Parts: sequence; structure tokens; C-alpha cells
Amino acid sequence: MRAAGSGSTSSWSTSTSRCPCDDGVPVLTHAPSRTAREAPRTRPVPPGPLAGRPVPGLPPRPGTGHTADTSGAPAAPRHPGPGRLLEARPRGLPGAAAPAQPEQRRVSPPPLVVEQTTIDAYRLVNRNPDRNMWSNLDLALPEAKAELAELIDCDPGEIALNRNSTEGLCTAIFGIPLAAGDPVVVSHWDYPSVRAAWFQRQEREGIEVVTADYDLMDSDDEIFAAYAAVLTPRTRVLQITHMSHWTGRVVPAKRLCRLAKDHGTLTVVDGAQTFAQMPVSFRDLDCDFFVTSLHKWMGAPVGNGMLVVREQVIDRTWPLLAPFDPPPLRVDKFDHWNLGTYNSALQAGILPAARFHREIGARAVHARVRELTRYWVERAAAIPGFRLHTPLDTESLGAVSLFSVDGLDARAVEQELRDAHQVHVQYREVRHLSGLRVSPHIYMRESELDRFVDPLAEVVDKQSAGRS
Ligand SMILES: Cc1ncc(COP(=O)(O)O)c(C=O)c1O
Repeated sequence: MRAAGSGSTSSWSTSTSRCPCDDGVPVLTHAPSRTAREAPRTRPVPPGPLAGRPVPGLPPRPGTGHTADTSGAPAAPRHPGPGRLLEARPRGLPGAAAPAQPEQRRVSPPPLVVEQTTIDAYRLVNRNPDRNMWSNLDLALPEAKAELAELIDCDPGEIALNRNSTEGLCTAIFGIPLAAGDPVVVSHWDYPSVRAAWFQRQEREGIEVVTADYDLMDSDDEIFAAYAAVLTPRTRVLQITHMSHWTGRVVPAKRLCRLAKDHGTLTVVDGAQTFAQMPVSFRDLDCDFFVTSLHKWMGAPVGNGMLVVREQVIDRTWPLLAPFDPPPLRVDKFDHWNLGTYNSALQAGILPAARFHREIGARAVHARVRELTRYWVERAAAIPGFRLHTPLDTESLGAVSLFSVDGLDARAVEQELRDAHQVHVQYREVRHLSGLRVSPHIYMRESELDRFVDPLAEVVDKQSAGRS
């Protein structure tokens, strides 16, 4: 897409004219003769109108003179730090559902600033969709990529924006050229659609999918050894799930990427659960593809994902859908442009979400969610038969964990928690494991986790009594 003024044959302007649902958002009134979709999507382009606007709920950005909109919330310290979050929900974090829900792994409620920016953007879109999406809102995307590049520690030219991890993972999985007989290493614990994608290639093209066999409670060394046992110089791709969505287990991804590199093997890291939940560096991991959703721990609007592709690998990777623009294209060929028409308002929420996350910092997020996990687990450990399927005594512990109660059907516990106490945890079953998953985000307080653990104790008591 080309920026307005960088080739359009007519200029465009904003007007303060009002429409029935007017909220002061400028209305674009003059469309250029050449639409952005017809124009080549070359980047970089200058920041768009939303990019320079004050973001409600966030502290003012240096030099902007903007004051934060407190959205009626009480003032809170700018950098509360993990412990301080106990005392005051920082301004701008979403309020808890009533009662607070301890399972947030799949999607998180976005911070207020993200919600508001997205609503504003959607209104702006609706005033003149053909103009305001591609030639207005999308101009902020290079700035969003630059912000994300800071967070994940890569070059902005290595980032493609898409809808979610599934799309990014499938882009990598189906985009790497492979021939019949080429071995690819996966594990039993990879995300189901990731495994399905690799097995589809096996069925369709005859690649050989090899499984590294380990248990999620194994030590890092045992997990490393399981991959090392099946990786050979013939292996073309190593699939790594950084944090298992089943139990929250973090695997030694950096060591595994090093091992793969020594074998000349490409690495696809599924970072859906680690990005923005804990510090992650693309450069430090030294992988070829890093994939995440932005609507999980970073709190972007639902329907945003990021694919990072190592610069040297871009040219030899096929896009999932054929690109709109003629070659030569770089990382843009993986961008959501190529999906056809999409909703730019959703992407407008990426920048404020990334900035909001940066204000807190991945280190603080990780420290806080680890603290929350240890808190509820230590309380729940007093429940007879309580069993945790996530290693607790490790620095890589985060928000995600899986537990079961000996002798009880976890599905029945899940249902009674939901029906009788309105508490949402999620039943999961894979191989020999079954249990309930818990994953609190930083805006939860200990008192809200008590409102999950106390009913859990009650439910277990009742269901255990019913069995005897
Ligand atoms: C490890 C892992 N990979 C991939 C995904 C897919 O993410 P999405 O549904 O955002 O595409 C998830 C979703 O929770 C996940 O936990």
C-alpha cells in the first residue's frame, strides 16, 4: 500500500463534519483518484493519523503534551511492578469479569486504551471504508511493526502481521519447500492444528514426520535429549512449541534451536503462549520462524497475530496465499493484505496494545503471573488429591498450568465450578493427561483467585463425598 501523498494524484483531507453517531473522529471527505488497493504496497510509509493521537488510558508520550484519559479509574503508579499490582489495578487494565475468570490463555480482555482505539478506528472505517481502511488506518502499521520489533527483538522488515498463530504457523509449515522423504521433527505436545498441518504434508507430499518422545514433566535435559535422539543432518525442520498450551511447560527452545542449527535444520517456534507473557528475544532464540498471536498475552484486539521470519529465509519461503502485489516482495508477502479484504480497525489496536505492554514490561508480566500461579497452587495444594501437572519450581513457570484431583472426573469438576460458582477453567485431555487448565493474567488479584480456589475446595469436597 502506498501512503497518501506518495503517488496519489489527488490529496485527501479530514473534515469535522458530523454524522449521527459522531464522536469527534475526523471524517475523510475526499478520496484520491487512485485507491490504495490499486497502488503498490510498498513500505515504509509515514505514521497514520491514529499513530500520532493521544492514547486514552496511557501515560502521555514524551514530547506529545497529551494528557492521559483516566477513564474514570483511580490514579495508579506508572510502573506498579509485580508486587504493587497486588494493591491497585493499574489504570487502563480491564476490569475483572464478575467473578474474575482464572483462564485467560486463549484470549485476554484488551486494556481499555486498546478497546477504545479499536472502537474509534471502527467508527472511522465505517464513515468511508474504502478510503479509511487502506489509505488511512493502515498507514500506522509500519509504526506498529517497529514497536513490535522492539518487543520481540528483530528487524521490522522481518515481521508480518496476520490474524493469529494458527495462520502464522501454517504460513511457515506450508511455506517451507520440502520434498518427499524429507524428515521434519515434531512432538506429541505441539498445538493440534500444527501437528495436523505437518501430517497433512506427510499425507499429501510424502514428507516424513518424526516425533520426539518425552513427557511434559520431564526435565529440560530429558526434553533436549528426546529431540537430539531423532534430529539428524537430514532433518529439514524442527517444530518447537515454546510453552505448551496443555500444561504451561516451557521447553529449552534456545538450546534446541542451537542443536537444529548445528544440523542445518530450520526451526519453527510456536511462541503463541510465550510472547508478552515472558521476555522473548527472536535474536537470542536464533530461530528461523517465530509465531505468536497478539490477542493473547499482549492484549491486542482478537484477530491479530505476528509472524517473524529470519531475513535470510524470507525469499525461500512461500506465502500461504498468493500475494496481491507482483514480485519482488519481501516479508509483505506474508502480511494480511494477501487475505483479501480485512478489517483494519482490528490492526489499529496493535500499536496501543504494544505500547501498553511495553510500559509494564514482559519481565514484570512474567514475574506477576508466576507469582499468581504460585499463589493459587499453594492454596489449592491443601485440597485432598490435588495434583499439578506443571513443574512449579522453575523460573520458566508462567501463568499456564494444568491440575487434576485424584479420583474425580475433571469434567464434572469443571461443570460444577461453572454452573454453581460461575468460575471458568478449562477441561483438557491429551494422551495420558487430563485436567483443568488455569491461566490468570496480571490484572487478577489474589482475592479473585481465592474466588476460584474456595469454590474448588467446596466442589471437590462435595464430589468426593458423593463418591464414598
Ligand atoms: C501453543 C499454541 N499454539 C497455537 C495456538 C493457536 O492460537 P490462535 O488460536 O490464536 O491461532 C495456541 C492457542 O491457544 C497455542 O496455545
